[in-house]
Amino acid sequence: MKQKIILSFLLQLAILPACFAQQSNEAAVGYHLPDVMRTQSGKVINTVAGWEKTRRPEITALFEKNVQGKTPVKNIPLRYVPLSVSRNALNGTATRKQVRVYFSGDDKYYMDILLYLPNSKNKPVPMFLGLNFGGNQSVNADTGILISERWVKYAPEPAYKNHFATAASRGTQSNDWCVEKIIAAGYGLATVYYGDLQPDSANSVNAGVAPLFYRKGQKEPAADEWGAIGVWAWCLSRALDYMETDKDIDSKRVTVMGHSRLGKTALWAGAQDKRFALVISNNSGEGGAAITRRKYGETIAVMNKAFPHWFCGNFKKYNDKEDELPVDFHELIALIAPRPVYIASASEDQWADPLGEYLSGWYATPVYALYGLKGLNTPVPPDINQPVGDGTIGYHIRKGVHAITPYDWDQYIRFANRFFSK
Ligand code: GCU
Repeated sequence: MKQKIILSFLLQLAILPACFAQQSNEAAVGYHLPDVMRTQSGKVINTVAGWEKTRRPEITALFEKNVQGKTPVKNIPLRYVPLSVSRNALNGTATRKQVRVYFSGDDKYYMDILLYLPNSKNKPVPMFLGLNFGGNQSVNADTGILISERWVKYAPEPAYKNHFATAASRGTQSNDWCVEKIIAAGYGLATVYYGDLQPDSANSVNAGVAPLFYRKGQKEPAADEWGAIGVWAWCLSRALDYMETDKDIDSKRVTVMGHSRLGKTALWAGAQDKRFALVISNNSGEGGAAITRRKYGETIAVMNKAFPHWFCGNFKKYNDKEDELPVDFHELIALIAPRPVYIASASEDQWADPLGEYLSGWYATPVYALYGLKGLNTPVPPDINQPVGDGTIGYHIRKGVHAITPYDWDQYIRFANRFFSK
């Protein structure tokens, strides 16, 4: 079985250039990817043990050093303070909890987790966990949600005033979150405002949790230490720490998901923290699922210029030098193996390079094959709105723009059901 999968992968690799030509209108994009199955010293990996003991740690270290930066290992004591519980939220279908998580002895550093749990279940429930862009109150019109008091980057008036939320921001992103749909499917949702951990703006690293980890005299993360995406990913793991203590939650069945920059974040969280049972990347693009060597849509240089705070200092060395980066992003997907991963693109989101997003799943497939698991079947992406989700790597390209929509959630729920139901 295993050999068959690997053989079919190799055969299809041989026909790849022809497929590219048929499938896309783009000029042939020539690139040579680092081989996920070969170590830097040239050793071919063909066993799970070789992957887990040698190649996986090597790839992880390369991402840490060159891309997202290292996550500090210091153990920060967490303190959970329940802010509110309502057993009668969303017309009685859900329990809403809000929990403040403090990261230090004083009250300065904290994040607020908003949780909805389906009342239809009387056992611990599987969860979707994701960071949100607009403050927890933007996720649903439920007036019981506390309004975030943090600075918000994308803050249209009148929902926000001078970058701070007003009551008019309640539910403005409810279409992105589809809480009712998630609850009806028997899942819970946990979400945190990403700006709780570090504001999404250049030069604001010291306004977030990073200083808690500084060595004596340190003023900013070193060139191989985390940027904002690393901080946000760390926060997702801390939310999971909390969920492990909540007996209404099945913390072994938590899906980490994210859209766009928060999709890049979800992938990095899932790659580092094996407790996440499933990982979803929604339109994560450059620095997320997209193959950077394709140089299609956004590139490393463009992203580092617009968002210099997202990745580590060393990542800037690869501006316009994609081919020198010792990893590519199919290897980020491979770090999630053998756990299920779902990659989603949108047809009008060429900036995020839909084909590159698909191909990272395809090129991660040999690692899934090592475990005897099916990844993607072919290097040719499916048609628009034709999801593929019968393997351990799922994918769809939705018609429309860069966004997360009810259609996307339908696919995520269906995919998660395959792994989590009963
Ligand atoms: C910009 C950025 C992308 C990012 C996106 C988002 O478009 O260039 O890399 O994914 O913002 O987070 O919405």
